[in-house]
Amino acid sequence: MTSSHPVISPRVAGISESATLAVTAKAKAMKAAGEDVIVFAAGEPDFDTPDFIKDAAVEALRAGRTHYAPVPGTPELRQAIADKLRNENHLDYDPAEIVVSCGAKHSLFNAVCALVADGDEVLIPAPYWVTYPEQVRFAGGVVVPVETRPEDGFRLRPEVVEKAVRKGKTKLLILNSPCNPTGAVCDEATLKAVADILVANDICVVSDEIYEKLIYGGRKHVSIFGVADIKDRGVLVNGMSKAYAMTGWRIGYAAAPKPLAAAMSRLQSQATSGITTFAQPGAVEALRSDQSEVEQMREAFAKRRDLIIRRTKEIPLLTCTEPEGAFYLMVGIGKLVGRTVAGRKISGAADFCLMLLDEKKVAAIPGEAFGAPEWCRFSYACSEEAINEGFDRISDLLKDVK
Ligand SMILES: Cc1ncc(COP(=O)(O)O)c(C=O)c1O
Repeated sequence: MTSSHPVISPRVAGISESATLAVTAKAKAMKAAGEDVIVFAAGEPDFDTPDFIKDAAVEALRAGRTHYAPVPGTPELRQAIADKLRNENHLDYDPAEIVVSCGAKHSLFNAVCALVADGDEVLIPAPYWVTYPEQVRFAGGVVVPVETRPEDGFRLRPEVVEKAVRKGKTKLLILNSPCNPTGAVCDEATLKAVADILVANDICVVSDEIYEKLIYGGRKHVSIFGVADIKDRGVLVNGMSKAYAMTGWRIGYAAAPKPLAAAMSRLQSQATSGITTFAQPGAVEALRSDQSEVEQMREAFAKRRDLIIRRTKEIPLLTCTEPEGAFYLMVGIGKLVGRTVAGRKISGAADFCLMLLDEKKVAAIPGEAFGAPEWCRFSYACSEEAINEGFDRISDLLKDVK
């Protein structure tokens, strides 16, 4: 019998929809229907792109920069990225080692596809950003989670990385500092120890540094490529989305040794070509600016971080760690598992988040998709009023739980 639908290839059929985007979409739909939803699900700054960045793109559009751009990015943007990496991160990359893509997500996809072959094992610290395991599986790789613990603030421990290595099988480690969803930041000593493990076992690294500028408590971002001479074994990924409130622009980049950069560019040439031509001058402007607008946004996030930590700690049935970067708080719901809240038995974070959305119109992301079934991710990329209102509702919901 013939089917009326085309059969989806196993490679694509196996991909899950992004859990974060799914909850955000449901909350947005409720909002659009006029419901008073407090959204802690967002993976993007609630600020608007600064005007001077927009102006550069508008000017480029008016000047007729509407034709195809080079696949790996315009020369000006690749130079601006190389200069940024040199001035801010003390990393020496030639513009020819930079590939600009449609967001850091696309840069990660290119990197994973260029490095991972069928059966290669890929170490991913857990809780992890949902996209990493999906991309690795798409490329034919095997995901090996590397546990991080709440009692360590979810910080990566090199000895756990070392234990997960299988010589000859482990191909890649995906690092993310500051981390989505935990906010954990890797310090220099950790990165040095991890770099030693990579070198000793001939493992590559993809370092996703997209939250680099959103870091709190006087900490400084450190790249693994800055603490050890391992540029030849990896890809640094960063982008414009989070630091400059440019999520909708879709501009990310990868820096990698020339053969790897060329492979990523070849892959991109057969998929999307170069990114939007007139968006690129906006990114140049952002990178070359004095960064004061980024600092203003960071300070606002820092205040919200303190507030959401305080409000969570006031609720005895919830726990949390103290994030050091990004704009997410991991809220532990372990004490609620097995109990009944608003007439519903809670068996994990998915139940809790669904109940929270239905009962109190508060949207957060369940941790199952991040590899953390007793944790929920609360984004504090929202106003202080929203944080206070959301946590008033959660307190009210949990006040009668025995
Ligand atoms: C850890 C991490 N890496 C990469 C990205 C992707 O960012 P972009 O908008 O540049 O694709 C995100 C976005 O949520 C993220 O959280």
